Amino acid sequence: MAKIGVLGAGSWGTALSVVLNKNGHDAVVWSILEEEVEMLNTEREHKEKLPGVKLPDGIVFTTDLKKTVVGSDVLIMAVPSPYVRSTAHLIASMVKDKQIIVNVAKGIEENTLYTLTQIIHEEIPNATLAVLSGPSHAEEVGRGIPTTCVVGAKEKQTAEYIQNLFMNEAFRIYTSPDVLGIELGGALKNVVALAAGIADGLGYGDNTKAALITRGIGEIARLGMAMGGKLETFCGLTGIGDLIVTCESMHSRNRRAGILIGKGASMEEAMTEVKMVVEGVYSAKAAYALAQKYQVDVPIISEVNKVLFEGKDPALTVSDLMLRDKKLENSSANWE
Ligand SMILES: NC(=O)c1ccc[n+]([C@@H]2O[C@H](COP(=O)([O-])OP(=O)(O)OC[C@H]3O[C@@H](n4cnc5c(N)ncnc54)[C@H](O)[C@@H]3O)[C@@H](O)[C@H]2O)c1
Repeated sequence: MAKIGVLGAGSWGTALSVVLNKNGHDAVVWSILEEEVEMLNTEREHKEKLPGVKLPDGIVFTTDLKKTVVGSDVLIMAVPSPYVRSTAHLIASMVKDKQIIVNVAKGIEENTLYTLTQIIHEEIPNATLAVLSGPSHAEEVGRGIPTTCVVGAKEKQTAEYIQNLFMNEAFRIYTSPDVLGIELGGALKNVVALAAGIADGLGYGDNTKAALITRGIGEIARLGMAMGGKLETFCGLTGIGDLIVTCESMHSRNRRAGILIGKGASMEEAMTEVKMVVEGVYSAKAAYALAQKYQVDVPIISEVNKVLFEGKDPALTVSDLMLRDKKLENSSANWE
């Protein structure tokens, strides 16, 4: 059995530690927040973020970074994306050569336009990196509801090793070499989920949602492929799969923030009300900058940026999207 150090004791870090414990591994979970660790050790439940999920005694919660990192077979990076660089920086000197670090966070860094494994690689160049992603709300994984994810890594053996650590009858893991495609799907879907939430907040229906999901995955795939990701990845669990769950579920903080914005709240008000890091807001600017860099047309991502950062009326964005230039649905399916 392996010793796994989990960085981040929020919803996802805690839910994954429950899976790892169930699979017989020793999970040591670190949080930077002393009061969170104290609460978890006393209550053995994350009442705010994972209510109803009992945390077995075998899971250790600590603020001691050394205890979490040193001697661990694998590290899981489970802090919200804006903290990935600072957390990677904190652990860099403790990480052994070729240490496997699995990034499970989703986002793109605004000023560098780096994906999260690119950030971790910059901070810890001697680590072996992998990514775990897919349609997987922590609230359901913690309760053992059947869920599927994908582990991506450059080396097949790394991906298969991580697949074996996590896989059980309620948590099915596939493998893939397309690390970039997996990470881009996970980060960009949060921006489209904001749009889906905005449409819900405006009172629109299932037709609008289906349009946003379908046209949204088109944008994600076009941009992702221009950057080097694979079409099949965007058509799979970490692309369309994660986009569907995020646009449909009330567990999604991005969708919830979007609903508030659609009902008239400002971005700041929505972020305060949701009380968690709304990663789509951070990734939205980066997504638009990437689209400009790779010259890809991303009308939904562009309108989300206008609502978030230029104060555009959400209702106007929908009519602007509807009345854009007339187009073919798919430029590769054209008449001779
Ligand atoms: N929640 C989910 O269902 C889910 C599923 C898949 C992926 N993810 C991804 O996992 C990542 C973590 O998500 P989450 O839902 O656990 O978030 P969360 O908001 O629940 O995590 C907050 C935790 O981050 C840690 N933290 C807070 N401030 C920090 C700081 N300054 N430095 C380092 N750590 C700090 C603390 O342990 C805190 O509890 C995100 O990128 C998210 O997109 C989440």
